[in-house]
Amino acid sequence: MTPAASDSGLSAGLFQQRTGAYLERFLRALDHHLPPATQDPSRLHEAMRYACDGGKRLRALLVYAAGEALGLAAEVLDAQAVAVELIHAYSLVHDDLPAMDDDDLRRGRPTVHKAYDEAMGVLVGDALQTLAFEVLAQSAVPAEHAPRQLRVIAALTRASGSLGMVGGQAVDIESEGQRVPLARLESLHARKTGALILSCMRMPAAAAGAEPEAAQALETFGRLLGLAYQIQDDVLDVSASTEVLGKTAGKDLAQEKSTYPALLGFDAAKNLAAQTFDDARAALAPLGARAEALRWLAFEIESRSH
Ligand code: IPE
Ligand code: IPE
Ligand code: MG
Ligand code: MG
Ligand code: MG
Repeated sequence: MTPAASDSGLSAGLFQQRTGAYLERFLRALDHHLPPATQDPSRLHEAMRYACDGGKRLRALLVYAAGEALGLAAEVLDAQAVAVELIHAYSLVHDDLPAMDDDDLRRGRPTVHKAYDEAMGVLVGDALQTLAFEVLAQSAVPAEHAPRQLRVIAALTRASGSLGMVGGQAVDIESEGQRVPLARLESLHARKTGALILSCMRMPAAAAGAEPEAAQALETFGRLLGLAYQIQDDVLDVSASTEVLGKTAGKDLAQEKSTYPALLGFDAAKNLAAQTFDDARAALAPLGARAEALRWLAFEIESRSH
């Protein structure tokens, strides 16, 4: 158990067990939805599976934990967990392309365009993205919940597009070599990483038809957690090793990225991340004990080393 999580008085064993069960069902669902590597065009399908291997699966776990807070059954959440991880995997494959961050290492292995080729990197991303929405559109929901399912799909599309992740990636590239104002940096991070993490709250909230107070609490939590997550990613890029990260350390400085450590300094960025994680957890107060899994997960995320 992390010191922070133990401070919260939560039972680590219980949450670890539940997390393990969620991960197991997520991996089963992911395997079910990805075309077999042997299916034509097999090189593309093999590369899609390669892109989806590994990673912390944080977004999937957030979907399950948010669903738990809203009283949803795990079966209702599998498609959302798979869809958001497919979008995330696609975003990483494209983020690593030579035209973007030009990275050779991801999740401890060669990036998709290194293991295959650049065209495959583009196509794998495209295919993972469309598969994500196919998974959501085809997931079986009772007829009376069809309007809710449309809102689930809308939440993920909005988070993924030009007003969300893709828009953030555009600003990230545009901002290289520039000293952007803090408000601009916050909005960059909120879009490129925060939007997808927020969708992990919005999708279960839409599926549950959540009451406004619960939906608002999850909304604020998701926004703050997403921001904290990218500030922490910037901090780890400076302080962690390539071996531990499974991706090349020190890339942000080398590429003159607009990051929190670059703008505020390392210590101030670290403190801001800690404060933002605290604020995120505080936002869960209206949900009381129902949000214990989310609270625990936020502590786990905060104490991550990679
Ligand atoms: C990396 O995301 C890119 C960011 C948005 C910060 P993760 O740190 O969640 O990557 P994986 O999925 O665990 O590899
Ligand atoms: C990634 O930001 C955000 C997305 C992939 C949308 P980074 O470029 O900082 O992610 P890493 O550090 O390569 O994982
Ligand atoms: Mg990037
Ligand atoms: Mg990158
Ligand atoms: Mg980074």
